[in-house]
Amino acid sequence: MRYFPKIAGERFYLSPVSANDEDAEKYIGWMNDKTVAAMFAQYNRVVASADDLEWLYKPPGDMQRYAVVLREGDVLIGSISIHNIDHLNRNAFIGIFIGEEEYRGKGYGTEAVRLILNYGFKTLNLHHIMLTVHADNYGGIACYKKAGFREVGRLSEWVFKDGVYVDKLYMGILAREFEEMETAY
Ligand SMILES: CC(C)(COP(=O)(O)OP(=O)(O)OC[C@H]1O[C@@H](n2cnc3c(N)ncnc32)[C@H](O)[C@@H]1OP(=O)(O)O)[C@@H](O)C(=O)NCCC(=O)NCCS
Repeated sequence: MRYFPKIAGERFYLSPVSANDEDAEKYIGWMNDKTVAAMFAQYNRVVASADDLEWLYKPPGDMQRYAVVLREGDVLIGSISIHNIDHLNRNAFIGIFIGEEEYRGKGYGTEAVRLILNYGFKTLNLHHIMLTVHADNYGGIACYKKAGFREVGRLSEWVFKDGVYVDKLYMGILAREFEEMETAY
């Protein structure tokens, strides 16, 4: 089997990313889809072969990257990472994409974010988890708010996109805020 269900969700699981041709083709397709790639600073690059996916396959030591895989049929639908993991200050960032359009807007993103938060707080013993998102990414912002994040900062006119500058938002959630949400569920 190509995947290893390490972090179990209800409808999908998170597996270490496997470097095989079939998955590489999917990732290359997604990195050429503007709706995904423009949110990741990948749209201004050429991603044409597995060699251009080093950032995905060979994450640095302070990063863990997982494939989001549907339980039914073991279908790869996206990727989620927890990165810049700082064990001294107990903080990190996360990043996510649901690459397959037909699987967006179905709650997978929110569920995957909550799964990685649970892993970050309860397994890695983190205290604060952050993310950045472009101000024009309404879907992303809605998803992160639903998962428990709140805006904590904003870099004005930071990202150049389609000829205009857009703000970059920082969103964060503390371990105790995540706990409170868990008990309220
Ligand atoms: C952003 C992303 C991860 C969200 O995951 P998702 O599975 O599509 O989102 P969900 O289905 O969990 O939606 C969560 C909430 O956001 C809302 N939402 C989703 N897409 C939206 C959109 N385009 N505009 C406005 N709201 C949107 C949903 O309605 C839902 O709220 P609700 O339950 O109250 O209706 C996913 O859409 C994606 O990967 N997009 C492309 C790449 C990207 O933007 N990555 C993030 C970079 S920071």
